[in-house]
Amino acid sequence: MKKVLLVAAAAAISMGSFSVQADGGAMYNNLGCSGCHGAGGKSVVPSYPSLAGKDAAWLVQQLKDFQTGARKDATMNAMAGMAAGHEQAIADYLAAQ
Ligand code: HEC
Repeated sequence: MKKVLLVAAAAAISMGSFSVQADGGAMYNNLGCSGCHGAGGKSVVPSYPSLAGKDAAWLVQQLKDFQTGARKDATMNAMAGMAAGHEQAIADYLAAQ
């Protein structure tokens, strides 16, 4: 058991450079963003914009603008609040899709 834990820890450390992306992807799915914006940010519904491959800094700014109300959309004003603290990780994930 101890050995298994050590191997898992080593694997987690060696994957360090990917962890932000993985976390962002998990957040994106767990918060339900994928329900509208599609798997990996590739929307299949015209009324929901695709987010895949968009500039990360721009994505972060949109989420902050939705949070403050500077950008208005009833759905996103609510959803962006759920992403608080994870904007950058989610944006990095989406930009890399
Ligand atoms: C219930 C559907 C729905 C969910 C769930 C949802 N969104 Fe959205 N999202 C929208 C709609 C609709 C728009 C377009 C709003 C507008 O026209 O300003 C949008 C716009 C955006 C934009 C701006 C994109 C652009 O091209 O202007 C970003 C970034 C975004 N959403 C991120 C997220 C993230 C991150 C989550 C999860 C925390 C999320 N959304 C969850 C419906 C949704």
